[in-house]
Amino acid sequence: MIGVLASGEGTNLQALLDAELPVLAVASDRHGTAALERAGTRGVATAMFAGDSFPDRSERDGAMADWLQARGVQLVVLAGYMQLLTPGFLDRFAGRVVNVHPSLLPAFPGLHAVERALAAGVAVTGATVHLVDEGVDTGPILVQERVAVLPGDTPQGLHRRIKRIEHRLLPGAVRNLLTDRAAA
Ligand code: GRF
Repeated sequence: MIGVLASGEGTNLQALLDAELPVLAVASDRHGTAALERAGTRGVATAMFAGDSFPDRSERDGAMADWLQARGVQLVVLAGYMQLLTPGFLDRFAGRVVNVHPSLLPAFPGLHAVERALAAGVAVTGATVHLVDEGVDTGPILVQERVAVLPGDTPQGLHRRIKRIEHRLLPGAVRNLLTDRAAA
């Protein structure tokens, strides 16, 4: 059973929902995100864990882990979640947190990966799905795919093409993890 954390537009969440993966719960750190609306439309449980509602990040992450586990979530997918998770959260879902990132990791980890790839003048960037550890986009890579940078590309246009790849890679990787767990 899957819990998704998302801060933004939620197109990767949408890809998981469209793939009919068992998404049970969606949490965000931001009010009024499209991701929460997409989940609500499908009748999936949603919750908001805003930073300013908690004394610190580990309290926030603890409350979020409680909420996810109370709903039976076993696998957590970060689908455009713009916060770093604290070690306490990662311990509670050890080896069971997945992230999608818009570059060919280990190139361009962290924020603004698409803009930085363009600024660096690379000919090829891509999308990566990986397991999350305590570093910034450093965990074991599950799958990645190349995306060519085109002449005159804008960050928006390039990111749109990368997301199209993400929308295929992420549901596939999540489905494989669920199958592996079921077989274990
Ligand atoms: C994606 O490009 C993902 O790789 C990055 O944030 C973006 C989220 O997009 N971590 P969306 O909210 O799923 O549309």
